[in-house]
Amino acid sequence: MEIEESPVSGAAFAEMKRFVRDYLAASVESEDDGGRMRWYPWHSAEYRFNHTRNVVDLATDIAQREGANADVVRVAALFHDVSKLEADQDRHAEEGARVARAYLTTHVDVPPSFIEEVCTAVRDHSYQGSLEDVSLETRCLVEGDLLDKVGANGTVLMILRMGYESRTHMDAATMVERVLERGENAVSRVESDTAEGIAHRRLKRVRWFREWLEEEVPGMDHETPVR
Ligand SMILES: [Fe+2]
Repeated sequence: MEIEESPVSGAAFAEMKRFVRDYLAASVESEDDGGRMRWYPWHSAEYRFNHTRNVVDLATDIAQREGANADVVRVAALFHDVSKLEADQDRHAEEGARVARAYLTTHVDVPPSFIEEVCTAVRDHSYQGSLEDVSLETRCLVEGDLLDKVGANGTVLMILRMGYESRTHMDAATMVERVLERGENAVSRVESDTAEGIAHRRLKRVRWFREWLEEEVPGMDHETPVR
């Protein structure tokens, strides 16, 4: 079997990771307080970098199983939200592609076609239409991105959000129900068998958690409206 060498070495990828982490941290530092909803956990550089790492793992795993170019997907996943904290939501994908292109053309020795594929995936990752319309590598990235919001991690984030919104713990089952609804929406968009498998496993965990919660605290039923 022919072994193809990755165009991005382990050391180069570690350096890229540091760049993305520092870029996110710097975007938040230069921001005025209250300019954006900074108090929400997902607007912190720490959360965004963590999410990025999760998406790198998920998307690379999907790419390997689905026969996509896993090197392109891994690098695209690393850069996909690099501009999330400095640009508006509807511009962050395009801006992220610009940052990725500037970095890749100056810091690593990769073929131009590799840079194009990475930048296409970063640019298209916020596409809201069918995943049949985008490149296979973009699809892997979008699926990884969707899956990070489904499951235990998405549940923790939602419960953390409750604190920021001064909700009481009695709203927990309702909020977990919301995680489930979002998860089901996310699952309806994924195309690959790999992503579907991961999504179903993760949704099952959220359902269990909601059931356990309602079993332990009878007053905490998700049908109770949130105030
Ligand atoms: Fe993302």
